[in-house]
Amino acid sequence: MKILGIETSCDDTAISIIKAKGNLKNPTFRLLSQVISSQTELHSKWGGVVPNLAKREHSKNLVPVLHKAINKSKVKTVKLKTALDNKTKKKLEKILEREPDLYPCFIKFIEKNDIPSVDLIVVTKGPGLELALWTGINFARALSFAWNIPLLPVNHMDGHIVSPLLNQKLDLPALALLVSGGHTELALVRDFDKYKVLGETRDDAAGEAFDKVARILGLPYPGGPEISRLAKKFKQKENKFSFPRPMITSKDFDFSFSGLKTSVLYTVQKIKKLTEKDRIAIAHEFEIAVIETLTSKTLRAVEKHKVKTLIVAGGVSANQKLKATITKEIKKLNPKIKVLFPEKGLSTDNGTMIAMAGYIQFLAGKKPKTSVQAVGNLPLGKI
Ligand code: KG4
Ligand code: ZN
Repeated sequence: MKILGIETSCDDTAISIIKAKGNLKNPTFRLLSQVISSQTELHSKWGGVVPNLAKREHSKNLVPVLHKAINKSKVKTVKLKTALDNKTKKKLEKILEREPDLYPCFIKFIEKNDIPSVDLIVVTKGPGLELALWTGINFARALSFAWNIPLLPVNHMDGHIVSPLLNQKLDLPALALLVSGGHTELALVRDFDKYKVLGETRDDAAGEAFDKVARILGLPYPGGPEISRLAKKFKQKENKFSFPRPMITSKDFDFSFSGLKTSVLYTVQKIKKLTEKDRIAIAHEFEIAVIETLTSKTLRAVEKHKVKTLIVAGGVSANQKLKATITKEIKKLNPKIKVLFPEKGLSTDNGTMIAMAGYIQFLAGKKPKTSVQAVGNLPLGKI
């Protein structure tokens, strides 16, 4: 079946169309099109994502992103049976009443374009910024109504968990290390629709720590790639800076990154004139501290739960040093364990993973919805 996935939980307006096959034990996916309109430049001026600006951009971008995604996918299209009557327009106006900027271009788009032959529309319900989530949800509801295609809501984090399944296979049970701007979680995946959270961050998420430390070092948002770029310039043998590896020896599987960030802040505040060499050394030591902490806890969980696969997903999984370190350490521990990262372009937010998570929900028997609520703090495993 063909599935259209819509993602607007943060600062990316993302829509993908995929083709999905197989059952819950062995789902397979093919990407037909992925379009992402990133708002990074807009938010970087503010040092982080500004929710009402994100909402405004989603309203502006959703229709053109959808248009592009349909064209790129080359899916067949069918003509709208009849022109939109007043009753339908009224209903669409009601669904989009909180999106006044979106409504006129939405109607124009529906009237001018044929319906793509997709079987299911999937949208992120949470977690994320509620203002941003609502725009995607209202858009998805309006599309579902106008085209008469069923709609399923999904959990954004379920999307990250299944994201490595595009063009890759994995054996269950798996352990998932989810590291994004809002989340740091270790989850045991027994089935693709059943997780058990083993541990999570008690304060800042790993990506959030990258973003905050980047700001301390005067680097733009998002901080993860910026810190990595700076850290790569570190060529010395010894680092004069040393930061804590928070909770690395604790017996549980929880994380904490706010102390590490504060430690960087105090270090920087003590330095009278921060040189480029200092910034490079601090970025390097900070990155290593995060990676060592994540790797150590993940390895312990892999050992304890005897999993066959390790999934590392979420924005921070784009970090090449994290990828190299975890892969090397798992190989040392047990070379039979498969380590899966998402393909390039699927680590950070995208509509592909949302469509994939929707297929899993469809296979699990979830019924389509006409009304969906955004839930900013939706926990992992809940919809
Ligand atoms: O999954 P994602 O796109 O959005 C959320 O769901 O939060 O993750 C975004 C986060 C940001 O905090 C960003 O700084 C971080 O992922 N990130 C990275 C890298 N690329 C993105 N962190 C470390 N290294 C990277 N290369
Ligand atoms: Zn995400």
